Amino acid sequence: MNYVLSEYYRNQAKKLILSDTHHQEGEIFWRSPSNIALIKYWGKKDLQIPTNPSLSFSLSNSYTDTKIKFQTNNVTEKQSIEFFFNNQKQQEFERRICNFFEIIEKFEPFLKKLKLTVYSTNSFPHSAGIASSASAMSSIALGICSIENKLFGTLHSPADFYKKASFLARLGSGSACRSIHNGYNLWGYCDVIENSSDEIAIPINHLVNDIFFNLRDTILIISKKKKKISSSLGHNLMQNHIFAEARYNKAFTNLYNLLSALRSGDLISFSEIVRNEALMLHSLMMSSEPPFILMQPQTLSIIDSIENFCIDTKIPITYTLDAGPNIHLIYHNNYHRQVLDFIQNSIFNTINQENIIFDQLGGGCQLLSEK
Ligand code: DP6
Repeated sequence: MNYVLSEYYRNQAKKLILSDTHHQEGEIFWRSPSNIALIKYWGKKDLQIPTNPSLSFSLSNSYTDTKIKFQTNNVTEKQSIEFFFNNQKQQEFERRICNFFEIIEKFEPFLKKLKLTVYSTNSFPHSAGIASSASAMSSIALGICSIENKLFGTLHSPADFYKKASFLARLGSGSACRSIHNGYNLWGYCDVIENSSDEIAIPINHLVNDIFFNLRDTILIISKKKKKISSSLGHNLMQNHIFAEARYNKAFTNLYNLLSALRSGDLISFSEIVRNEALMLHSLMMSSEPPFILMQPQTLSIIDSIENFCIDTKIPITYTLDAGPNIHLIYHNNYHRQVLDFIQNSIFNTINQENIIFDQLGGGCQLLSEK
């Protein structure tokens, strides 16, 4: 398979080699949001290439702040990375970053000549069921692009900078490539969207009706436990899945219909498609070999309450789930009051107030400081 951007960055990498006499140090501090997928990425091939396009929006209050201190380290040609989460050394994620850096060394060869110390914090509680790898990996990818710019001055135009950040973020965690821009992002080639690509996510806000910029995402945390299986393992199980082909076809149909609902402002169709994606994702998990069930009894009982609320009130709230038991309630801001009443009356008997996170569609990444 020929991947154009990958080829391009591999060629560019010839210009990104540090000479032994180059001495420089600095630090860079980025904030990057988490995002919630409406059309799900589930299944991949080659190097983090999705089997179908996915579409998400970036969140406003759920983000990762990552500071990277760098120093040229000409003595060795080996990676030197230390990772701290909430100022504590975190070896599990450190290993993940080392793997990530090994993968991207062919695009950023200067990395092996740097001593890097990475400090991350999340705005949301650890293991809250919010996709922390998306915000974490995208904030690191942004930091690497800034370091490339400081050392070589190669990514001056914002378009080039964000394109490469999304490209690198994808190689850290697929969904992370959708966390660079604000609002709505599409990752994956789709014949009706210009510039769409399997290698990066692109912002598609210009294709979205104004009413969809006032969406809330209220996250109902049913369990903070670590996932039973990693997303990567789940993606792999799609390879021999008996429903794989049907799923990929349906993902495209759902995407086309969602794009049309987003454009026309059709909240009802939007709600139906988002729910269909969430339930299909979990039915794919349940029909994998081996199967896995990530929903919990409370997940189903809350989904039942949401369905009843929608039937009784005719209010188009919808929900989605990622690879976990937690529910993202998605609705227009106009219905916030009614949703709060619903939560108070029907959800508080299942989960506590401190396990609810109020978020909304929001801004993209942000450079916090640099030295
Ligand atoms: C269910 O991006 O976490 O949240 O590329 O292996 O890191 P890796 O997977 P990841 O998968 C996310 C899966 C999902 C759906 C989505 O966000 O599109």
